[in-house]
Amino acid sequence: MDVYGLLGNPVEHSLSPPMHEAAYAELGIDARYVTFEPDADAGARAVESAATLGIAGLNVTIPFKQQVLEAVDPTPLAERIGAVNTVDFSTSPPTGYNTDAAGVVRSFTHHGVELTGEAVVVGAGGAGRAVAFALADEGLTVHIANRTEAKAHDLAAAVAASHPAGESGAQGHGLDALSALVPEADLLVNATSVGMEEDRSPVPADALHADIAVLDAVYSPIETRLLADAAAAGATTIDGAWMLLFQGVEAFERWTGRDAPVDEMNEALRTRV
Ligand code: ATR
Repeated sequence: MDVYGLLGNPVEHSLSPPMHEAAYAELGIDARYVTFEPDADAGARAVESAATLGIAGLNVTIPFKQQVLEAVDPTPLAERIGAVNTVDFSTSPPTGYNTDAAGVVRSFTHHGVELTGEAVVVGAGGAGRAVAFALADEGLTVHIANRTEAKAHDLAAAVAASHPAGESGAQGHGLDALSALVPEADLLVNATSVGMEEDRSPVPADALHADIAVLDAVYSPIETRLLADAAAAGATTIDGAWMLLFQGVEAFERWTGRDAPVDEMNEALRTRV
């Protein structure tokens, strides 16, 4: 039996165990998915211990996504983002992936959204970094708006530096730029915690429009204020459970080399969010 798991602190409310176990059940894979909650500074040691114990794969969440970098061989994308959310122990040292990036891309493509034009990313923390690199790698022009504007500029510079000039662009802004940026944008992602367990949106409602696709990384509540405003404006809306689903789908596929049973994983998730 293979053991997979989630490394986080806290992890008790994670939806990853039922999502991955639904995939094992569907494909007849003899595996379990469990949660691990080491001390908040013990991410790298936990990965080394997991290798010793023969664990097959780990997902990694707050506060360990940066810490585990030192215990893995990161992919170039994970290295650029500066965070690992999936560890594959079939190599030595283990390989560190960032599947949040592919999760964003697959959330849009699953909904028939074309990845072209201008994107606005709200947030420049861990989630914002993955989203910004993912969309820039798809060739979109990326505008990053963050409460702490300097972090948006730093992230934009890092994104721009990793792309050949002219292929794509990235710019940093404060949140006050959203009312001018969003009306021109084709895609919008909320990568802040604004809207989590609160009826508040980081984006002015009157800037939203029918020709934009809006993804909210927040999935509690499942319909955030931002998504309600976007739906009212006629926009395409994609809730945060899709991003959670597709980062997990991508992790499953890296670990097993098989196509994930997306519908079954989605159902396991949807009945619990
Ligand atoms: P994560 O890994 O989930 O991205 P994080 O790295 O702590 O978490 O980043 C949180 C993001 O939400 C940041 O962009 C943060 O803005 P700051 O960089 O200015 O801190 C943003 N954020 C959190 N609370 C916010 C609020 N009340 N208003 C606007 N942005 C907020």
